[in-house]
Amino acid sequence: MEHLNQQQPNQLSQQPQKSSNGPIPVNTGRINFWDNLPTPFFALAPMADVTDAAFRQIVTKYGKPDVLWTEFVSANGLASPGREALLIDLIFGENERPIVAQFFTADPENMYTACVLARELGFDGIDINMGCPDKSIEKQGAGAAMMKTPEQAVEVIRAAKRGAGDLPVSVKTRIGFNTNELQTWIPLLLAENLAALTIHARTRKEMSKVPARWEHVKEVVEMRNKMGVATKIIGNGDVRDLADAKQKAKETGCDGVMIGRAIFGNPFLFSEKEVVGEARKKSFGFFTRLLILLGLQKPPKYWHETSSQIPLEKRLTVFVEHAKLFEQLLGGSKSFAIMRKHAKGYVHGFPGASELRTKIMEANTAGELELVIRSFLDS
Ligand SMILES: Cc1cc2nc3c(=O)[nH]c(=O)nc-3n(C[C@H](O)[C@H](O)[C@H](O)COP(=O)(O)O)c2cc1C
Repeated sequence: MEHLNQQQPNQLSQQPQKSSNGPIPVNTGRINFWDNLPTPFFALAPMADVTDAAFRQIVTKYGKPDVLWTEFVSANGLASPGREALLIDLIFGENERPIVAQFFTADPENMYTACVLARELGFDGIDINMGCPDKSIEKQGAGAAMMKTPEQAVEVIRAAKRGAGDLPVSVKTRIGFNTNELQTWIPLLLAENLAALTIHARTRKEMSKVPARWEHVKEVVEMRNKMGVATKIIGNGDVRDLADAKQKAKETGCDGVMIGRAIFGNPFLFSEKEVVGEARKKSFGFFTRLLILLGLQKPPKYWHETSSQIPLEKRLTVFVEHAKLFEQLLGGSKSFAIMRKHAKGYVHGFPGASELRTKIMEANTAGELELVIRSFLDS
């Protein structure tokens, strides 16, 4: 594994500039990586407490997407004395490039500060979260709440661009807050000449409860074309695997597809060789299908279908490798409970899975987790 960028706590002792009206940072001559991606390209979605540095290393090793995001990080926090504690969320390996740092805030000054920091840390791009439905984030006027204050959203984007210097700035959002607001919300964002715009094809109100409506991604592509701007449009929502992503890109004309939950328990997702769309249909054994048919077992989450194709021993071995990496990179800062949650993704769809998950939930270290899994595999 390549060396992770862990230099930040020391290197960042220099205070980032405070004012959102401060001087534009020096141009470092970095290229806009968005222009060099294939069409369509495939991105790993930012997911808090999932796509941390350890998991991204595992994904990068077993099936690297074309672009990766960090989990979202509070720009208010980064601009506060509590900043040191958040820097762990901004470590990354050179092998993850291109890597985008995602921030949330409703405060332009703090966004500016966070973007200056992202430049110092060597990120390839900056993304602004304008879609998260989490109450604690919305209370700050950030995340999905930005859709309710479009003028503020524009201020935040402009401050991000000033702080970012030559780093490309993108936004990730939804199709509206309570209702479809594409016609008002999207042109406003596109007018800011963003490098990329990710559309999670649901409203904030819908959370993830209804199927994503990809026809709206197509609509956004058409708006972009009509406005004649170069913003890359990325579709997101309910994508099962690469075959599904390719199909959706073809249908909508979007430049890229972002995949989130389908990665649970399946770091091979972006590797064409391991998982093909057709195979998922055959991924469950006869017995499981019968139980589902008889109503004795809940139908699987779609991400269980793809990860079920990874041979069991391989899946569990990668889980152990992931846990060890988590402990090594993040163990000093993050609770092992975050790592244990991945058991839902890796451990399912075979006899004894539920009992094994229960045992894993009692493990407090990677060593304990390994013992539990080894004894299961040896039994
Ligand atoms: C556990 C979890 C954490 C998430 N955290 C973030 C986040 O930090 N930033 C963000 O923009 N979206 C976040 N999301 C939303 C995803 O990026 C993505 O938009 C959503 O899951 C829909 O894509 P999917 O259907 O492929 O999972 C999160 C989603 C999940 C399930």
